[in-house]
Amino acid sequence: MTAELRREDLHVAVRDPAAASMNFLNEVAARFPDAVSLAAGRPYDGFYVADDVERYLRVYRDHLAGTGLSASAIDRTLLQYGRTNGVIGDLIARTLAVDEGIEVPAEAVMVTAGCQEAMIVALRGLCAGPDDVVLAVEPCYVGFTGAARILGIEVVPVPEVADGLDPEAVLRVAREVRASGRRARALYVVPNFANPSGVSMAVAARRRLLEVASEAGLLILEDDPYGLFGLDDEARPTLKALDGAAGGRSVIYLGSFAKSVFPGARVGFLVADQVVVDGAGRRTLLAEELSTVKSMVTV
Ligand SMILES: Cc1ncc(COP(=O)(O)O)c(C=O)c1O
Repeated sequence: MTAELRREDLHVAVRDPAAASMNFLNEVAARFPDAVSLAAGRPYDGFYVADDVERYLRVYRDHLAGTGLSASAIDRTLLQYGRTNGVIGDLIARTLAVDEGIEVPAEAVMVTAGCQEAMIVALRGLCAGPDDVVLAVEPCYVGFTGAARILGIEVVPVPEVADGLDPEAVLRVAREVRASGRRARALYVVPNFANPSGVSMAVAARRRLLEVASEAGLLILEDDPYGLFGLDDEARPTLKALDGAAGGRSVIYLGSFAKSVFPGARVGFLVADQVVVDGAGRRTLLAEELSTVKSMVTV
């Protein structure tokens, strides 16, 4: 038996030059550690001190002790296999309420291995067959198109204009997709400081986008790793907060602690408070349903 494999026989996700760009950027950064890369959302190394990790762990252990857990239960929580959707959903829900005005129950939060896993889990759960596609702002964050590529899910682009995503263009593309017999399951967008364009959506456009999503029956995958970092005092309400305040649940919020804590921790999350109903009328939250997918990715 030959030990050589033909590259052409491997899945297109392995060979796709666009998908390989993430590895390329990481390699360049490792080779030129003093260069400031404007190509990747790579936080400044000087903000990190390894000793802080011990301090963070201590703070979290103290927090768990304060909830009444015994020393052995704390060790188990930190070190043992645990709940698939993670153990800090309550803390993330509180953070979202305080920082963003997003009100969701802890059960709607799934803690993921970086926002990247959240994208994969959401895409896998939402797109059920070959006619299910996702819309995405173009130019698009390569992590999203790459995630769709490894799952074999088609991404239909919605071109970005000078002031960000144009909701009317979303409506037009969603209608074209429907007319072609396919189902647009969701729209991916980064409303704050989009990667790669850096553009932020105006609040009026955010509100209109939510109307469009509801008209077109589209879920929104809102990716918001940079929302905290505005240098002005302009209001940047998340789509999730605006939607929730109006009683809507059309936004799945994708979060990351890579830019605010540190990327090596690989901690992100998704918030999916949409209600899922089965044939027997049993109701669950989408985040709970998606847990089966996550259990087969990172357990
Ligand atoms: C728009 C966007 N989403 C997600 C990520 C990745 O997040 P994480 O490191 O949590 O997987 C990045 C990183 O550059 C990004 O720019």
